[in-house]
Amino acid sequence: MAGYLVEDTRKVTTHRLIEMKQQGKKIAMLTSYDYTMARIIDGAGVDIILVGDSASNVMAGNWTTLPITIDQMIYHAKSVVRGVQRALVICDMPFGTYQISATDGVTNAIRIMKESHCDALKLEGGEEIIETVKTILAAGIPVCGHLGLTPQSINKFGTYAVRAREKAEAEKLVRDAHLLQEAGCFAIVLEKIPAALTERVCRELTIPIIGIGGGPADGQVLVGQDMLGLNCGFKPKFLRHYANLAETITDAVGQYVADVKSGDFPNENERY
Ligand code: KIV
Repeated sequence: MAGYLVEDTRKVTTHRLIEMKQQGKKIAMLTSYDYTMARIIDGAGVDIILVGDSASNVMAGNWTTLPITIDQMIYHAKSVVRGVQRALVICDMPFGTYQISATDGVTNAIRIMKESHCDALKLEGGEEIIETVKTILAAGIPVCGHLGLTPQSINKFGTYAVRAREKAEAEKLVRDAHLLQEAGCFAIVLEKIPAALTERVCRELTIPIIGIGGGPADGQVLVGQDMLGLNCGFKPKFLRHYANLAETITDAVGQYVADVKSGDFPNENERY
């Protein structure tokens, strides 16, 4: 492996992320769900690896993030942590593990931290879950917020369209962002909202704002498989493809199949 592509190879902490915002340094975040990919993207210099509950879609083929369980998230997070030296590893709390009560939320949060060894957790929502967020923070667990298009609420929204275009929803989002910062969150992900709203939240808050489909922010996050072109049918406006791995893999596998069938593989040097 080529080794780290960043000058500062110290482990990224929540404290460093806030310093990065103060210094105007952008934060690069990607999702990962397994050891092999986490090792590569950590070595390539991402600052944060998110073990997203998008594993439900990307790894398991579900339509939504709702079905993934706490045991499955712990399995993915543990695998990622083993591959990472530098990046901060955030694990999503899956649907149903923090919405019932603060006590239930902190119990599940402690379990994820203890069993996965990740560095922090991410929860979707603002005012509705603020007591739970405070209880988890009081247990010494760093929390990243997530506002805007929150995929665990997709059945309530009924659409993956841009959120907070209307004034009332935009004002609630800004209030929620302030509440999460005041509670002690170290960062907030803003998903699929108008760029002007992202810009306002970045300006008003001192903690880093990480955007996905929300225009420029203190940092950006994408689903690793999407930006690497493993999921060709998915091309929303906000997504940039940095590779076409689906094509690369198809070509490689096609060549392997041809070589096996022709008897070209294994050759003289590929046997004992
Ligand atoms: O689960 C996930 O991948 C996420 C990102 C889209 C932010 O929450």
